[in-house]
Amino acid sequence: MRPSKRSILIVDDEKNQRDILDMILAAEGYRTATAPSAEAALRVTKTERFDLVLTDLKMGGQSGLDLLRALTQSDPSQLVILMTAHGSIESVKHALRLGAVDYLEKPLDCERLLAVVAQSLARLDALDDDLIGFSEPMQKLKKLILKVAASDETVLVRGESGTGKELVARALHRHSPRVAEVFHVVNCAAINENLLESELFGHEKGAFTGAVAEKKGLFEVADRGTLFLDEIGELNVTLQAKLLRALQEGEVQRVGSTKIIRVDVRVVAATNRPLEEMVKEKTFREDLYYRLNVIPIHLPPLRDRRDDIPLLVERFLVRQARGATHYAVTPEALRVLQAYDWPGNVRQLESAIKRAVLMCEGDTIDVHHLPEEILRATGDLEAAPAQSAPFSLPSEGVSVEEVERSLILQAMERTDWNITRAAKLLGMTFRTLQYRLDKFGLRRPGKTSASEPNETSASESVEG
Ligand SMILES: Nc1ncnc2c1ncn2[C@@H]1O[C@H](COP(=O)(O)OP(=O)(O)OP(=O)(O)O)[C@@H](O)[C@H]1O
Ligand SMILES: [Mg+2]
Repeated sequence: MRPSKRSILIVDDEKNQRDILDMILAAEGYRTATAPSAEAALRVTKTERFDLVLTDLKMGGQSGLDLLRALTQSDPSQLVILMTAHGSIESVKHALRLGAVDYLEKPLDCERLLAVVAQSLARLDALDDDLIGFSEPMQKLKKLILKVAASDETVLVRGESGTGKELVARALHRHSPRVAEVFHVVNCAAINENLLESELFGHEKGAFTGAVAEKKGLFEVADRGTLFLDEIGELNVTLQAKLLRALQEGEVQRVGSTKIIRVDVRVVAATNRPLEEMVKEKTFREDLYYRLNVIPIHLPPLRDRRDDIPLLVERFLVRQARGATHYAVTPEALRVLQAYDWPGNVRQLESAIKRAVLMCEGDTIDVHHLPEEILRATGDLEAAPAQSAPFSLPSEGVSVEEVERSLILQAMERTDWNITRAAKLLGMTFRTLQYRLDKFGLRRPGKTSASEPNETSASESVEG
């Protein structure tokens, strides 16, 4: 769950100053703690996590900059605000370069203090809506995104399929100064190699057969914005060289042109391929690897942050709500969802929830509504009522009509002849399914007409 109060560690060697800050921030509703030196702050952050560290610059012993450096080294996601004496612009610049999120000038102005603190934490709150999850790794991830969003450095996002790499790339753009400019996604695996070159870098008219007009590449289109290069491990060696130049020099050349075009693009790249091994095998350029990997972000698989599953399920169910129908999940079903290993991560969880909603007759998802492969993996299949065989491909020479009839029959049997649920399962309207049932003369064994299905609720609406 979202921590109910944001926490702030106040570091200052002057007791008076500490007490005042403590009083002001606590009165504002923050959970506060204080430390009289950088050394003490480092000790307490070893065992306790804070959303924000507010530290004085000049202190006896290690300085605020030393503390900032040490904190960022052990946890790059830690948000730090530095307090400096009026006029020490050089220290401020230095602090921001080291990763401070903001600074405050002394003597402190109470209003500005609260504004700066609230602003830094509000950005964290905004991220909570984009990236669901309050497990330890997710909280770190969100703080890291906030910090690196501000810079123009290249970010390399790694993680298994479905862990949210694209979502992170979008969040980086949304929280960056480039937010008003374009965010463009290029899937390097989905575009043929030759096309990809002109897609990224553009081409001149007549550069190759079919190049009937000149074309801007995405590096030009995304100028001043962010380019998300997905599946970066799929780039061939020629394109790797061109990309390196674009990143290093901010220069691109269209295919068939010698003209150099300057671009200002922030690149976020993603992959789930083992780039380090590819570098060893010489299929991925080492220099490009280091250039991309300036800021690495690793997304943990869902099975390593199972605490997030209940909240993800809750939010996905909210997305599935239809009119007045709000879906819930039984504790038993939630236990299964938390026990499963989710090789397809969050994407797989979301689609499992969608399927469960389709299978669910009321508004509560129970164990037997969950996909069979999940129940089998968690050993809960026996506990669930038997499900009929999944839809299967017909053998050769079978007409489409026969296939349709068979699918409808399977859907009817699976839903115990409930037309509303079978229609949902088949993606048809109630009326269409009823028409098909009549057409194929399908009816529930023992009944004389399919028009008298065992609809449990008389008030069920018939979609047109
Ligand atoms: N933390 C999260 N909160 C909410 N939704 C999430 C989260 N992580 C992933 N998702 C959702 O899961 C789906 C997959 O996310 P995304 O496309 O970003 O994954 P990916 O890592 O890029 O996967 P792939 O490697 O297969 O391209 C999306 O629908 C995304 O919205
Ligand atoms: Mg992706």
